[in-house]
Amino acid sequence: MRFILAKDYEDMSKKAATIIGAQVILKPSSVLGLATGSSPLGIYKKLIQWCKAGAIDFSKVCSVNLDEYRGLSAEDDQSYNYYMSENFFHEINIDKSNTHLPDGMAKDGEKACVAYEVLIENLGGIDMQLLGIGHNGHIGFNEPAEDFPVITHCVDLAESTIEANKRFFTNIDQVPKQAYTMGIGTIMKAKKIVLIATGEDKADIVAKAFQGDVTPQVPASILQLHSDVTIVGDEKAFAKIKL
Ligand code: F6R
Repeated sequence: MRFILAKDYEDMSKKAATIIGAQVILKPSSVLGLATGSSPLGIYKKLIQWCKAGAIDFSKVCSVNLDEYRGLSAEDDQSYNYYMSENFFHEINIDKSNTHLPDGMAKDGEKACVAYEVLIENLGGIDMQLLGIGHNGHIGFNEPAEDFPVITHCVDLAESTIEANKRFFTNIDQVPKQAYTMGIGTIMKAKKIVLIATGEDKADIVAKAFQGDVTPQVPASILQLHSDVTIVGDEKAFAKIKL
């Protein structure tokens, strides 16, 4: 596990975008695992800028996103599908048919989750997975639990996650209570993982997850067992770890 210390959010975004950009330059047909939330927005902005400047070509890239709210369609402006189109795909030269997210509207959720795993496998697996981290240590929507969930599945969101995500909705009642997410096993199979953390409110969980015990009560802690993880954090998020 390597830690890359960035000065602030801007610097973190630039460093993480550089790692992802390098991945695409080294392997133009990379399968990128992508995340939503507020942390990656700066990365997407940088990648868009570099793509428009001709420095990075996404035409052969495939993407698979970590998660999607259950019950929200791709057209819903609160869906992760919509977020990805607006904040990234729409602005780069990726082939939209090569971009994938769990289907929030799937009639048979269980079947759709298995199909998502098969899709990732058929793409040859994830070359580089981008992750954020929740205040309770969740990655994707894998919330603290008794076990590490293995494959893509439907989850009940933790109260703290609903609370944290209400900022994107008009009121808390509109925040979906369930989501589809890649499992911890799906994430751990990615060849490389880049996790970003920003702000002082992430300092406690960063220290607990990456320099504490490996436990399903802190889902991100499993990343300590992966062979190629890079944590890019700003000074505030890294305030409580020993570098
Ligand atoms: C998003 C996701 C979540 C977020 C996490 C941190 O696709 O899977 O695990 O990465 O909730 O969110 P932010 O970046 O908003 O603090």
